[in-house]
Amino acid sequence: MAMIAKQCPQHEITVVDINAERIAAWNSDHLPIFEPGLATVVQAQRGENLFFSTDVDAAIVAADMIFLSVNTPTKTYGLGAGRAADLRYLEKCARKIAEVAQSDKIVVEKSTLPVRTAASVKRILEANAKGRNFQILSNPEFLAEGTAMQDLAAPDRVLIGGDDSEAGQAAIEKLVEVYANWVPRERIITTNLWSSELSKLTANAFLAQRISSINAISALCEETGADVDEVAHAIGTDSRIGPKFLKASIGFGGSCFQKDIFNLVYLCEHFGLPEVAAYWNGVIEMNDYQKRRFARRVLATLFNTVSDKKIAVLGFAFKKDTNDTRESAAIYVCRDLLEEKAQIAIYDPQVSAHQIERELGAQDPATGWELCSDVYAATAGAHAVLILTEWDQFKDLDYTRIYQGMQQPAFLFDGRNLLDLKALRAIGFEASGIGKAGERI
Ligand code: UDX
Repeated sequence: MAMIAKQCPQHEITVVDINAERIAAWNSDHLPIFEPGLATVVQAQRGENLFFSTDVDAAIVAADMIFLSVNTPTKTYGLGAGRAADLRYLEKCARKIAEVAQSDKIVVEKSTLPVRTAASVKRILEANAKGRNFQILSNPEFLAEGTAMQDLAAPDRVLIGGDDSEAGQAAIEKLVEVYANWVPRERIITTNLWSSELSKLTANAFLAQRISSINAISALCEETGADVDEVAHAIGTDSRIGPKFLKASIGFGGSCFQKDIFNLVYLCEHFGLPEVAAYWNGVIEMNDYQKRRFARRVLATLFNTVSDKKIAVLGFAFKKDTNDTRESAAIYVCRDLLEEKAQIAIYDPQVSAHQIERELGAQDPATGWELCSDVYAATAGAHAVLILTEWDQFKDLDYTRIYQGMQQPAFLFDGRNLLDLKALRAIGFEASGIGKAGERI
């Protein structure tokens, strides 16, 4: 919405939420999320044509177009728990619009949703239309965190799905006109509603599949002496494969990939397609394997025990340049090591203790984990250093100083293949990466 406000000064954008604390944060100097470049745009547009408010009803009444951007987490209860999307927030929004609107509205699904969700939103709105016309569009968002502002400013494509009817096509055109203020028309793809909804799930499933594929190969590299970065480079130069999303890691995290694949799997099962469901579920299984495999390797290398050993974890966010920790692979690695009674010292330039507490329980340096504000304090006296997020600043640390402060032998596990293992070994580290044969060959 900040980007639309920036690119379309003729439009007035009001972002509403029932959470007063969040809205207050959006109106303050401390935005509730860290995203490079976002604060500048919000500061420039706020009070001009971008407003944050808790007055949901007034915003619905005033709007021509309403974007539904609510959470659609994985269901934690009842039928489909752990896999299906929880659509209660979305349904509440639809009912609210039906209750409050006094004129025709275009309602745009921005949240990532299972295919055919628009049908339920449409039914709720139409059943309560009382003479008003509601058009439903699907406009999934493809931005990635950390690069959101660049992705929004120059998207590969914008996707808009809508009804085949004349009114549906007119609604699509209205939204096309908004994006056309800065996105070339040929990059704005229009489809029917279901294609649009399914394309979003499919895009995320394909991206995640590439990571699981290269991670699967990384395990084989470690056994055979191949180097996964060399393999990724060699295959990525084939223009049919392409170089992106081939970086082996401790596993993908984030709020989207796992949730969307679970959704896809659930849909396939629902429609009686168990083979298709199993195929995509394999992407998740491989990711779980990769996270577990990393923790096990740490344990095995540290002479099969990490009990009472200090382990420094550098990076807790699910990727660099974000403070988001949702489904971060670091959570699973830390949990496995805590089960083995390790003492974990975490350093992350953006993540707060409060966020880690939600995942690992209360902070307790003696028996569990602690968050350090200084990277050298985190590594002092540690038996091993684990790189779990690829923050740029980790490339420039004083590794000689870190090495000298650690227990010997000093182990370093680079879960992101970020560092120069040869240079680390020259300092004295027993260093290993992902998909690198390491010391064994
Ligand atoms: C993803 C999609 O990229 C985006 O289009 C969609 O709108 C939302 O979901 P995001 O989750 O923000 O975006 O980040 P992304 O860059 O896709 O990374 C996801 C995870 O995969 C991270 O944990 C990242 O570290 C990991 N990853 C990514 C790899 O392990 N290897 C890679 O080559 C790329």
